[in-house]
Amino acid sequence: MLRLSLRFILPLLVVLALLATAVVPLVDVLLSRWSLRDLDLRSSWIAGQVQDREEATGFLTSRSRSAILDYFNRTIQDERLYAIGFFGNERASSHRTTTFPRELLDAHDRLANDQPEQVLESSGGALHVSVHPVRHGDEELGKLVLVHDMSFITRRGDETKKYVFYFFLILGAVISLLTVATAQLSLRGWLAGMRALLRGEMLLRPPASAVSPELKPLVKDLRALVRELDTERRARDESQVTWSPQALRRILHDDLSGDEVLTVSNRQPYIHRYHDGQIDVQVPASGLVTALEPVMRACSGTWIAHGNGSGDRAVVDEKDGVAVPPEDPCYRVRRVWLTDAEESGYYYGFANEGLWPLCHIAHTRPIFRTSDWNHYETVNRRFADAVRDEAHTADPVVLVQDYHFGLLPRLIFERIPAATIITFWHIPWPNPEAFGICPWREELLEGLLGSSILGFHTRFHCNNFIDTVDRYLEARIDRETSVISFKGKQTAVNHYPISIEWPVRWLRTQESVETARTAIRARNGMHDDLCVGVGVDRLDYTKGIIERFLAIERLLELEPSWVGKFAFVQIAAPSRTKIDQYQRFEVEVRALAERINERFGVDGYVPIRLLVEHHEPEQVFEYYRGCDVCIVSSLHDGMNLVAKEFVAAREDERGVLILSQFTGAARELPEALMVNPYNVDQFAAALHVALTMSPREQRDRMRSMRGLIQEFNVYRWAGKMLIDAARMRQRRRVLGENGDGNGRLRGLVIS
Ligand code: G6P
Repeated sequence: MLRLSLRFILPLLVVLALLATAVVPLVDVLLSRWSLRDLDLRSSWIAGQVQDREEATGFLTSRSRSAILDYFNRTIQDERLYAIGFFGNERASSHRTTTFPRELLDAHDRLANDQPEQVLESSGGALHVSVHPVRHGDEELGKLVLVHDMSFITRRGDETKKYVFYFFLILGAVISLLTVATAQLSLRGWLAGMRALLRGEMLLRPPASAVSPELKPLVKDLRALVRELDTERRARDESQVTWSPQALRRILHDDLSGDEVLTVSNRQPYIHRYHDGQIDVQVPASGLVTALEPVMRACSGTWIAHGNGSGDRAVVDEKDGVAVPPEDPCYRVRRVWLTDAEESGYYYGFANEGLWPLCHIAHTRPIFRTSDWNHYETVNRRFADAVRDEAHTADPVVLVQDYHFGLLPRLIFERIPAATIITFWHIPWPNPEAFGICPWREELLEGLLGSSILGFHTRFHCNNFIDTVDRYLEARIDRETSVISFKGKQTAVNHYPISIEWPVRWLRTQESVETARTAIRARNGMHDDLCVGVGVDRLDYTKGIIERFLAIERLLELEPSWVGKFAFVQIAAPSRTKIDQYQRFEVEVRALAERINERFGVDGYVPIRLLVEHHEPEQVFEYYRGCDVCIVSSLHDGMNLVAKEFVAAREDERGVLILSQFTGAARELPEALMVNPYNVDQFAAALHVALTMSPREQRDRMRSMRGLIQEFNVYRWAGKMLIDAARMRQRRRVLGENGDGNGRLRGLVIS
């Protein structure tokens, strides 16, 4: 109130001061100047009249004194002309009105000679006196003296000053009112801005126009501060948390206040199958399952997945759920049933003949069929309904997995707007040109942008995704924070390199490395001294199995001393076998192994053992432990967890990892022997280096890689995403927002 009064009074005072010090004196000066000029002109005009008359009629010389005085007296009827006097020479006599001031009688000579016009102070006030010569022909008859009363100037001045005063007073009042009104309005805007700022709203991303200009620098600074704190907190997260199931549980409990976690993936973690009339349980060969299973053990919650096992229906409860893991149940798998046609269109068709080759640069042509797309949409909806059914709270955390569910995030968002949806794309994301050939590219992008967080293994894939959105959608992209705003939803695009549990549970039951060495050799008919290389993959054209075999062949060619001394075991889990490309690939792989075996096999020595069959994790780990070299030669791979599993298996710090530079893992494990699988000679040379590497070098490399994986394990992968999700939720709660489950701002308008 005080401020407002000041705002009103101050401008008023300023105007008044201005009035007193500058305006009034100026008005005085100007007025008297104008009035004097006015009087001069009047005097000249009256004198001119007398002169004309004299010229025409000889008025002053021929008329009687009374006629002249009568004329003078009539002339001074004018209120401003006070007196007239004519002071003649010898020919003309002098006349003056009775009003003629006495002081002038004494001074008229001086007046006449010195200055024709001047102001005199008389006892009656200021007088304007002007002296004009009167001529008749060439002869000067005398001087006409006109005396004007100047009191009218004072009167006029007083009046003008009064008007000027009122005018400025009103002007001052208007200015003051305007100042107060403007101040009020901007104060309101400022306060609104300040309030928004304090609530943290502007630290998110309001449209630039929404921030009032005077707050912009403040908002900028605060944003920078928040970012700094965020980074600091992240650094703390990394330095202080030992990533373990307990750490993950703590995050869930402390940061997410025990919020519900739902995971959705196509592949389920445990498959129940009829085998010899009995139901057994299989752990599928899937990097996704390898990574997520330990996370779900730690978080509990529900994992929604396709029930594809022949015995799946037999073991579920009335809500299609089953508690797992079988030996120690701690979370629930909710199975979603698909018809053969749906599975064929959605899984084999659109996901694996379309998106899989589209996203992997492995030179296999993607196939897109409208009927597959229709199934893909239907199945995504089916899973969205399952999520809605399984959610017991209004704001669950939903972890959506992989390319089978490109549409699911938005479908979930539509059904559960307050859910925090974390989507992880486990495979690479190609550049915009490559992705652009997909006939339903916009639909997929829009679907994924229903996520609160969208994760990829590498920054490179994040950038590809952002560029793709930039190319095909009208979205607002903040490249600095990697946040995309689309259709009222914000999606943070971040990279979270996936990993494996540490320590790996399958190691608990493993025998010693020595035993494993002997066991795998014996099982494959190899003698004990044989150097053994191992490959563990699904039988998939992206895994570089052909290139691997060609490199082995080249090694045996270039270094024949390895013939009979080095053999390779390829564990190839049958995968997506209904797809032509996979069938053809298997034929090709088998034929190549056979050719090489024929070429170099001798006396029971078989260079390549191709085991096209499913192996349970315990068996796979035995191979990791018993071999000398593990080869991961993918042509393109999001991460590849086989590389990390091999390292985790080698507690003895021995063994060499050969790793394709086209895997996500290559970025984290530079101590591996890096190869370009397309370069057969280089690959063969790397094999030779691996087989001849000293135990000391093996240990150094292995130790370093183990240190990294131990720290950057799968609990950290999940933990980082959950921490980011928790932060988002917290922000949303603090803002009291009831909208999109995303911390997004709604209707922020700062005037
Ligand atoms: C890749 C995919 C996973 C998939 C796995 C096995 O790792 O990213 O989503 O589960 O391959 O493939 P499959 O088709 O057998 O599930």
